Amino acid sequence: MGIFWWPCLLLLLNLVECSPPEDPIMCSSKTTNCTITNSYGAFPDRSICLAGEVVYPTSEAELIAAVAKATMSKRKMKVATRYSHSITKLACPGGDDGLLISTRYLNQMLSVNASTMLMTVESGVTLREVIDEAAKAGLALPYTPYWWGLTIGGLMATGAHGSTLWDKGSAVHDYVVGIRIVTPATASEGYAKVRLITSNHPDMNAVKVSLGVLGVISQVTLKLQPLFKRSITNLVRNDSDLGDQATSFGNQHEFGDMIWYPSQRRVIYRIDDRVSSDATGNGRNDFIGFRSTSTLALALVRSTEESHEATNNARGKCTDSKTTASVLMTAAYGLTNNGILFTGYPVVGNHNRLQSSGTCLDSLEDWRLSACPWDPRVKGEFFHQTTFSIGLSNVKNFIQDVQKLRDLVPDALCGVELYNGILMRYVKASEAYLAKQEDGLDFDITYYRSHDPMAPRLHEDILEEIEQMALYKYGGSPHWGKNRNIVFDGAIKKYSKIRAFLKVKQAYDPSGLFSSEWTDQVLGIQGRPIIIKEGCALEGLCICSEALHCAPKKGYYCRPGKLYKDARVCTSSTSSV
Ligand SMILES: Cc1cc2nc3c(=O)[nH]c(=O)nc-3n(C[C@H](O)[C@H](O)[C@H](O)COP(=O)(O)OP(=O)(O)OC[C@H]3O[C@@H](n4cnc5c(N)ncnc54)[C@H](O)[C@@H]3O)c2cc1C
Ligand SMILES: *[C@@H]1O[C@H](CO)[C@@H](O)[C@H](O)[C@H]1NC(C)=O
Ligand SMILES: *[C@@H]1O[C@H](CO)[C@@H](O)[C@H](O)[C@H]1NC(C)=O
Ligand SMILES: *[C@@H]1O[C@H](CO)[C@@H](O)[C@H](O)[C@H]1NC(C)=O
Repeated sequence: MGIFWWPCLLLLLNLVECSPPEDPIMCSSKTTNCTITNSYGAFPDRSICLAGEVVYPTSEAELIAAVAKATMSKRKMKVATRYSHSITKLACPGGDDGLLISTRYLNQMLSVNASTMLMTVESGVTLREVIDEAAKAGLALPYTPYWWGLTIGGLMATGAHGSTLWDKGSAVHDYVVGIRIVTPATASEGYAKVRLITSNHPDMNAVKVSLGVLGVISQVTLKLQPLFKRSITNLVRNDSDLGDQATSFGNQHEFGDMIWYPSQRRVIYRIDDRVSSDATGNGRNDFIGFRSTSTLALALVRSTEESHEATNNARGKCTDSKTTASVLMTAAYGLTNNGILFTGYPVVGNHNRLQSSGTCLDSLEDWRLSACPWDPRVKGEFFHQTTFSIGLSNVKNFIQDVQKLRDLVPDALCGVELYNGILMRYVKASEAYLAKQEDGLDFDITYYRSHDPMAPRLHEDILEEIEQMALYKYGGSPHWGKNRNIVFDGAIKKYSKIRAFLKVKQAYDPSGLFSSEWTDQVLGIQGRPIIIKEGCALEGLCICSEALHCAPKKGYYCRPGKLYKDARVCTSSTSSV
């Protein structure tokens, strides 16, 4: 930690700042009167969350003291992480005067044991640190998210995952075998206590994926594997048989995933398997989208897209998306064979150098010159994300429906290709109550968001139709850390073990001190996670039921979907179909 900040301090002497993201927590006095946001600087409803105070415990003892103090005064609490990477309002404590408990300094590696293959870390440790430390001991966490800036506590809370149908599946929480969690307690217990949850503990399936409502996870023990090598080849194909391929591809390659460019009718199949440790190669993944990027380039790309939006130039987006995709493909998305150069597939290397990336987090350059592409301090990416998983048996029909929509309006999906297409990753059913209920394919769709909440988007009806089709026609379930509000409305009904989860919540935190308006809405306890107001459908805060929810003055009215007639979407009156 200390070492990390040294170069920044040196730079500071020269009056420049490093580009690591800004702290998501701001306080008007040192640790009181605070606000919290996410790493994008905007929640789905664009509100700012208030908190009365923030504490930065450095040990479990300090953590217990913080929880006890807040419990005694019946104050709302919420765990906040160093970067706050969830899009949804999970970081917000209830009310306006809650306590934020940051895990920024709960970031010690506690133990790694090469013979038991167990690793114990404090919950604020980032995925990157877990990967690095495991590798030093000759071990690997087999399946992880692709971005290493997440903390263990945060990624567990939202069920974050990579891509596989092998073993226990792609979600990190399914490799967790021990948890220490600090929860409120009675006065006689001192208002806070540590609960030790081991693999066979009856509460394990609640605590693994908790949306942060059960208490503060202090430590996590992960079951690792011996470090191994992987071999990656990206194969470009047309998408005519994608429905069939997507259903079976996950059973053919351990780490396989797909990037779909629907308007270009192309798919990048990542053929990705474990290989013998004798295989030669020292490949590395430094995904281009997660690199520190020139702010000039970011501003140019953003301005171009804004101008296509302003002039209704969907074709322009299509032209640009072809260029973007071919640049990324040529650059192998940031894969190199030896850490420096890409000379061709396959890229072979140690798992720890390939599984995840995120070098924009520690670039030494001033953030005004280069930053993470979504850094809210600079003019750059600003987007919506719709992310859901669909049971494998429904995947083919869903994909074919999206293809039919694409055929009806061929330019409509070029916008998602500007954000590297639709990322498709395999997820497996889990025992955890709030995790995936069935084996499925997770679709990550990223697309333009205007800085003006009342501005309609080009062809937004098509994406709204896909969103509603995924949820209601194909039973999709949301990623808890991503998505727009409507995706969560009623979603909890898809979780057959929700009662068991709520029972544990009642036992751990009977006064709901770790709950907020948002988590109560999402968990179906009180209220709905939707907001009805003028223009609400433009932001995914509601499904439109009248023109006013869209932008009638700008020619966008509430209409049925083109294919899925039950959908209600904001359609431009000048739309050709
Ligand atoms: C660039 C980028 C790439 C991403 N890639 C992926 C991906 O490949 N796969 C994927 O599945 N997701 C991905 N995500 C989403 C991400 O996994 C989730 O949003 C994740 O939850 C964020 O982790 P965080 O540490 O930032 O936690 P936060 O977003 O800060 O917190 C999430 C929730 O966890 C709670 N929490 C955090 N720590 C604790 C703790 N110690 N005890 C109890 N509760 C706690 C918080 O209170 C909050 O409710 C990505 C996000 C970004 C920004
Ligand atoms: C808290 O901060 C807000 C906005 O930064 C400010 O308007 C308000 O006066 C502050 N309140 C206190 C008690 O400091
Ligand atoms: C690893 O775990 C084993 C079995 O519990 C134990 O005997 C050994 O001492 C541990 N090694 C280290 C380095 O802690
Ligand atoms: C798509 O690719 C397959 C072979 O992979 C080929 O048989 C088929 O003709 C192609 N379809 C189109 C529309 O190009």
